[in-house]
Amino acid sequence: MTDLTQLQQQAETELAASQDDAALEAWRIKYISRKGLIPAAVKQIGALPPEERAAYGQAVNRLKQGVQAAFEVRQQAVKEASLQAELTAEGIDVTLPGRRPQLGRLHPISRTLRQIYDIFGSMGFQIYTARDVETDETNFQLLNFPKGHPAREMQDTFHTTVPDVLLRTHTSPGQIHAMRDYHPEPIRVILPGKCYRYEQVTARSEMMFYQVEGLAVGHSITFADLKGTLHAFANQLFGEGRQLRFRCSHFPFTEPSAEVDIDCILCGGKGCRVCKYSGWLEILGCGMVHPTVLRNGGYDPDIYSGYAFGMGPERISMLLHGIDDIRYFYANDARFLPQFA
Ligand code: DAH
Repeated sequence: MTDLTQLQQQAETELAASQDDAALEAWRIKYISRKGLIPAAVKQIGALPPEERAAYGQAVNRLKQGVQAAFEVRQQAVKEASLQAELTAEGIDVTLPGRRPQLGRLHPISRTLRQIYDIFGSMGFQIYTARDVETDETNFQLLNFPKGHPAREMQDTFHTTVPDVLLRTHTSPGQIHAMRDYHPEPIRVILPGKCYRYEQVTARSEMMFYQVEGLAVGHSITFADLKGTLHAFANQLFGEGRQLRFRCSHFPFTEPSAEVDIDCILCGGKGCRVCKYSGWLEILGCGMVHPTVLRNGGYDPDIYSGYAFGMGPERISMLLHGIDDIRYFYANDARFLPQFA
C-alpha cells in the first residue's frame, strides 16, 4: 500500500524543483498522467478491505486535488519567470529617452526674406507678388531694353517654346505690373520672387535665385527719399551706424542709376578678404524710375516721379552669415540647412 504522506511530500518537493517547461512535463507524466503514481495510488482502493476504502479514498482524493492545484500554480509561476527572463535578456531599457522627431525649420533665404519684409513693412511698403513667367515685352521692352539692347546680354535668358514667353531674369517687370495695377494711386511696394538666368553656376551665381525689388511712385519723390530709405534699411539689417556709398551706374529702367555699397560688416572698412580689401560691400542697384518706364506703367512723368531698387537676398544672406558659396542654398545639404535656426 502506498504511503500517501510520503508520496505527497515527494511530489511537492520535485514540483518545487521543476524550473522549466520540460521539468514540469516530466513531473506531470510521473505523477498525474494516466499512468502516473497518483492515479496508480487511486486504483489501489479496489485492493483494500471494504472498511478501509472510505478513509483511503478520501485521503487519496485530497492528495490528488492538492497536487493538481499545486501543479497549476507552479506552471503559472514558471511561465512568468520565463517571460521575465526573456525581457531581461532582450535588454529593453525603458529609461532610454525617446527619439525626437526632426523638426523642420525655415530655409535661410526664407529667413532673410522675412527680415527684409519686416524692415520695409515697418516703413509702409506692401508686398506685391508678380509672376515668374513673363514676356519679352514686360521683362525687357517696357523696362527700356528694346530688342538687341546690349544690357540684355547681362541677363542670359531661359526662353520657352512659346515665342517671346520667358522666365523672368529679374523682378523688375513686377514694376510694370504694380504700376498698371495701382495707377493712378501712389505706390510703395517691394516685389520679392525667384528669377532665372541661363548662366554657368558658380560659387557666386546660381541659375535660380531670389530678388527683392522695391518701387515707390508718387508726387515729388526724389533721390533723397531713395537714399534715406536705403540708409534706414541697411542700418536695420546690418546694424546701426552703417555707412552707405552710392556709385554711379547704369540700368536701362532707371535714370540716374546707382549701385549701393555698405562699409564692410566684417572689417568695418579697413579692408579684408570678403570686401576684397576695398572696405566696401555691394548690396544692391537702384535709381530714379526712368520716365519711359513710368509712362509704360501708366504714370505721367511730368506729374509723378519714383525710385526703384533691386537686391539679391542670397548675397545678403551670404554677407550676414559668412557663407562663401551661393550653391549651398539650393543643394539641399542637411548639414548646411539646419545651421540657421
Ligand atoms: N533688375 C536689376 C538686375 O537684375 C536689379 C535692379 C537694379 C533693380 C536697379 C532695380 C534697380 O529696381 O533700380 O540686375
